[in-house]
Amino acid sequence: MSLGSNKVLDESKQGDATLIDAGPDNGKKLYLESYGCQMNFSDSEIVASILAESGYRTTRNPEEASLVLLNTCSIRENAEQRVRNRLNHFNNTKKKNPELLIGVLGCMAERLKAQLLEEEKLVDIVVGPDAYRDLPGLLEEVTDGRKAVNVLLSREETYADISPVRLNSNGVTAFISIMRGCDNMCSFCVVPFTRGRERSRDPESIVREARYLYQEGYREVTLLGQNVDSYRWNVSKKGDVIDPAKETVNFAQLLEKVALTAPDLRIRFSTSHPKDMTDEVLHTMARYDNICKYIHLPVQSGSSAVLKRMNRGYTREWYKNRIDAIRRIMPDCAISTDIISGFCGETDAEHAETVSLMKETEYEFAYMFKYSERPKTLAERKFTDDVPEEVKQARLEEIIAVQNESSLKRNRASVGKTFEVLAEGVSKKSDDKLFGRNSQNAVMVFDRGDIIPGTYVRVKATDCTSATLMGEVVKG
Ligand code: SAH
Ligand code: SF4
Ligand code: F3S
Repeated sequence: MSLGSNKVLDESKQGDATLIDAGPDNGKKLYLESYGCQMNFSDSEIVASILAESGYRTTRNPEEASLVLLNTCSIRENAEQRVRNRLNHFNNTKKKNPELLIGVLGCMAERLKAQLLEEEKLVDIVVGPDAYRDLPGLLEEVTDGRKAVNVLLSREETYADISPVRLNSNGVTAFISIMRGCDNMCSFCVVPFTRGRERSRDPESIVREARYLYQEGYREVTLLGQNVDSYRWNVSKKGDVIDPAKETVNFAQLLEKVALTAPDLRIRFSTSHPKDMTDEVLHTMARYDNICKYIHLPVQSGSSAVLKRMNRGYTREWYKNRIDAIRRIMPDCAISTDIISGFCGETDAEHAETVSLMKETEYEFAYMFKYSERPKTLAERKFTDDVPEEVKQARLEEIIAVQNESSLKRNRASVGKTFEVLAEGVSKKSDDKLFGRNSQNAVMVFDRGDIIPGTYVRVKATDCTSATLMGEVVKG
């Protein structure tokens, strides 16, 4: 989910943690930094919760920490490079403070396994995404001078029973993980290797978490999964009911259950997959005012030939049919996407198809990337990363320019209209302004007055940039 302008996604959004005062205290402080996707940020909240149980308090200040954990991302090479730079930095700190423990969590831990510990000697502890319950035990092992590595992937772990510690929270919006892993094998993507098999979380625990957040004053939850449309509970992959005595739940039904939690709790979700997004999901969205009219539907490429090499499981025509379905069922729904420039073998004509699809769709927003070859993926094994760097760059720039134009056009079309906005916090640029988002996920900035974050306000858009709508609060 995006705040800010269309851009190449910066994986290094740092999630330094807030202080937690409740629970046991072992006198040790944890400094936790997160990289990558929202799922990783959500996992960090689980990690903080597990370690809080064994007495670690989190701190925003790395200098007072006795444990530094980096929750890492492997999606592109530069994401990993950034983490290595941070690890070098903390290793310098360690020279002055030899007691400091440094750990790597998340996707790099899973991809590189013991390498960062044994060969590169950059860390003391390595823990993969399905092994966080083992963290307290591993920390004891490392204090005893043993090597602490657990990168076992699981077919069951969903951390359903763990109540996340909300880090860096604005108290208004929160993430809820509804599934883990991914069973698709998009040829460019490292996620199936770092996150393991897809598994869905118990719907009751999801609804319980939403209800709890609502009681705590939160007014928006984002349901997270790599492919939310393949969420399924009590149904096998082939479609058979597993336990006939229990209910089955698909993603549309889960959305409905969460929407029924409270009429003024907003629901968002990410990420939808074009090959799996059903009309049933769209009709459910249309039926509930509190399900936000916004879909992130990554296309990756506008060329059917490239999509085939990417193993995405759909064609340009299929994708366009999905866009048409969204527009037909919810004319006011905003759509954003992800695009990769310069995938293996991409010709000028294939790139032009991406540009034409963007112009036809006129996305509200897009995340745009240059293809980065990842070890072990199908693309690395089958294809050559043969598009020259300068061509990838030039194509990316063209894609960004097209997107900026369409974001501006979309925002201009909103000027003059009034939207319901959930106030989230004080605007970065001015203490006198608040920001929030409308249902379509557009950021709106408006006068603070006596409005408290967490309340809904009606805001009329009066002006815009390609990234933001400026507006006036409409009373009554
Ligand atoms: N599960 C989501 C995507 C998760 S990764 C989905 O299927 O849409 C987020 C985005 O990173 C992807 O949509 C893709 O655009 C980009 N990405 C993934 N692997 C990449 C690679 N090797 N090089 C460049 N971009 C990549
Ligand atoms: Fe990666 Fe494809 Fe799974 Fe998304 S759906 S996480 S791009 S393999
Ligand atoms: Fe990165 Fe892992 Fe997410 S590779 S994008 S942190 S699933």
